[in-house]
Amino acid sequence: MKWNLKPIFYPKSVAVVGASEEPTKIGHVILRNFLKSFDGKVHPVNPGHKELEGLKCYPKVSDVPGGIDLVVIAVPARFVPDVMRDCAKKKAKGVIVITGGFQEIGRKDLEDEVRNIANKAGIPIIGVNCLGVFDTNTQVDTLFLPRFKLERPRRGGISFISQSGAVGSAVLDWAGARGFGVSKFISYGNATNVDEVDLLEFLEKDESTKVICAYFEGTKRGKELINVARRVSCIKPIIAIKAGRSAAGAKAVSSHTGSLAGSDIVWDAAFKQAGVMRAEGVDDMFDIARVFAEQPAPRGDRVAVLTNGGGFGVLAADACVKHGLRMAELSEKTLSSLRQHVPEYAVLKNPIDLVGDADVGRYDVTLNALMKDPNVDSIYCIALFQTASLDSEVVDLISEVGERKEKPIVTVSTGGDFTKLHMRLMEENGIPTFDTLESAAKALAAVTHYQAFRSSTVCKSL
Ligand code: COA
Repeated sequence: MKWNLKPIFYPKSVAVVGASEEPTKIGHVILRNFLKSFDGKVHPVNPGHKELEGLKCYPKVSDVPGGIDLVVIAVPARFVPDVMRDCAKKKAKGVIVITGGFQEIGRKDLEDEVRNIANKAGIPIIGVNCLGVFDTNTQVDTLFLPRFKLERPRRGGISFISQSGAVGSAVLDWAGARGFGVSKFISYGNATNVDEVDLLEFLEKDESTKVICAYFEGTKRGKELINVARRVSCIKPIIAIKAGRSAAGAKAVSSHTGSLAGSDIVWDAAFKQAGVMRAEGVDDMFDIARVFAEQPAPRGDRVAVLTNGGGFGVLAADACVKHGLRMAELSEKTLSSLRQHVPEYAVLKNPIDLVGDADVGRYDVTLNALMKDPNVDSIYCIALFQTASLDSEVVDLISEVGERKEKPIVTVSTGGDFTKLHMRLMEENGIPTFDTLESAAKALAAVTHYQAFRSSTVCKSL
């Protein structure tokens, strides 16, 4: 079935079934999340209360006056079919079922019942057995993890779909703490009637999503997944982690969300065929995604490296070449401009070594020259904040240059708290910032190679 998932992510009215006044209960946390930052109407539903959090509380969804776009269900599994019937009666447009205790524990019958009711009524379900949705644009937030415990990330272009709620929420917390920008997070659990294929199709058209990250455990629609992923990949990049590589992992997958892991070799081949970039882990996935989300596409594979530490420049060049990038031949115009403005002891080759006493002025001249240089497609900028002459001014400079979105720029800084503070500032300003030379080179290379995929015959033939 082709679902309309927009009411789930962009609802005007929401009902929370199982809303409670008990602070440790999931229904309480979800209600509070909505009250905190969601702009639309919020209705608690619980037959045991007349009022919750200062709002009128209704016994059933069908008792709520007016239309309901989204119903969030957090009541024990045995009650979920009845609540679904009531959602069908109310003509709710979408449902998120947080509740666990279905197929994953052998209650396929209960999950089938929920699915049948929803399918008959044409209601898409995110879940069952999931965390649901966090959308930075609309502040739909069904994560039952209190905000003081899980930092919500800032608004950005990365959308992340995850079969596992725990992997998803840990990643979200981690992304929030590092200043990464996220558009949508979707934990879809058992995929009762909305699965990864539907979600990819939704994100394909979602304007706030620039890059799609996915954590897969398995799929029941392998062929459709490849076909849709291939089509979507030609429009937006997809980066995926596939769990269950080992036999032990694959066995664990089936008892987690009840899906089949499938052969890893088959998944690998399918990803390649569909242009999906396979990541080893979450850091790898976000490293690549951040560059896609925040930076313009490179026109080619020629990279310029600049640094205030010579050894780092050499290692960065090695890492770039190892991942398939070419070191740019700097134009004569760039070189002569640098000769005029930087001391003669700076090394004006590629990598450009602005040396240990480099200040913001040297970075300014160099970054601007590289941005204009027709021989340079991307910029790899190392800023080691341990030196006396480098401080937050260089953060402002790199952010300003990056904001022009003329060419992709990534930065690398390594160090302790002082450095980390500056890294986070750059990240929040939309500059992908890395603490290892290797990860920056890998991410920049992935973005560069993706451009080649997009202009390949695979995409042209679609
Ligand atoms: N309609 C509305 N409210 C109902 C209801 C119904 N049909 N049936 C029960 N309720 C009320 C309860 O009375 C209770 O309200 P109260 O606190 O005022 O008494 C509230 O809904 C919650 O029900 P309760 O029985 O207390 O359940 P719970 O909050 O302990 O657990 C779940 C409910 C959904 C959280 C639990 O069943 C569950 O599935 N937990 C696992 C969730 C999970 O891990 N999901 C996957 C994440 S990746």
